[in-house]
Amino acid sequence: MYDLKGRVAVVTGSGRGIGRAIGLRFAREGCRVVFNARKRQDELDESVQQARTLGAEAVGVLADVSTIGGAGVLLQRALESFGGVDILVNNAGIGIFTPFINADEKLLERHLSSDFRSVVYTTRLFAQKMSDGGAILNISSIAGIQPMLGLSLYGAMKAAVNTLTRYLALELAPRLRVNTIAPGWVNTKLGRSMPELLGISLEDFAKKYTLTGRILEPEDVAEMAITMVRIESLTGQIIQVDSGESILGFQRQ
Ligand SMILES: NC(=O)c1ccc[n+]([C@@H]2O[C@H](COP(=O)([O-])OP(=O)(O)OC[C@H]3O[C@@H](n4cnc5c(N)ncnc54)[C@H](OP(=O)(O)O)[C@@H]3O)[C@@H](O)[C@H]2O)c1
Repeated sequence: MYDLKGRVAVVTGSGRGIGRAIGLRFAREGCRVVFNARKRQDELDESVQQARTLGAEAVGVLADVSTIGGAGVLLQRALESFGGVDILVNNAGIGIFTPFINADEKLLERHLSSDFRSVVYTTRLFAQKMSDGGAILNISSIAGIQPMLGLSLYGAMKAAVNTLTRYLALELAPRLRVNTIAPGWVNTKLGRSMPELLGISLEDFAKKYTLTGRILEPEDVAEMAITMVRIESLTGQIIQVDSGESILGFQRQ
């Protein structure tokens, strides 16, 4: 098993939601954690504070990882703060519900940048500096595996991340492992907004359209993140954490 104690973990998009939960979970394991957000300094400070309360060393870096410059700033600050990077979690992303017919150039650009370029830029820069034996974990979505109404561009970008995972696992081996978690709807600002647009609360959605009947919490995804980074024989895998949502499906019900 990959020992997490003392490792440096960088989690993009960790001012709140899934990214924060993953960062705090690494903090609990004794990692030194670099949190990141694009614009919400207050949320970033809160993530760092919570990690320090757990006894971990932590810093926060405000940087837009959908740009090469922003990804570079994040890497530089991580190296300055902790002298190296062992674990990279590409979590930053956006999800915007829009019927495909209304998906204009601006929306395409936003999804390309936030959900795909961010993974490419950050991974390319970090992979050159990460320690041997380190791990990269991407957060995609079950929308990248099965179609969901109104999420065509988002889903296509997440499918690209799933495919990229396998290519990167191939190209970066044996030095680094690359895996992906594809969550269902998770109880975050982003996750709550989507079912509500479809006229249903996340609670009712979970009751009706999952096998477990329970809402996915960011901590569920974080638990899988720790496990996937720990298992040294795991690479090139896309694991769904979705309460069985992808088995039931809800589009036609
Ligand atoms: N929630 C779900 O149901 C769900 C399901 C499947 C997959 N996912 C994926 O999980 C990831 C996290 O989602 P979430 O639900 O936790 O979202 P969230 O609650 O909206 O949080 C997103 C975080 O990412 C940051 N961020 C966004 N774009 C960024 C960028 N370009 N550079 C740096 N930071 C950036 C945000 O900071 P600022 O506000 O400061 O920009 C915020 O801290 C996303 O990739 C999402 O697609 C979510």
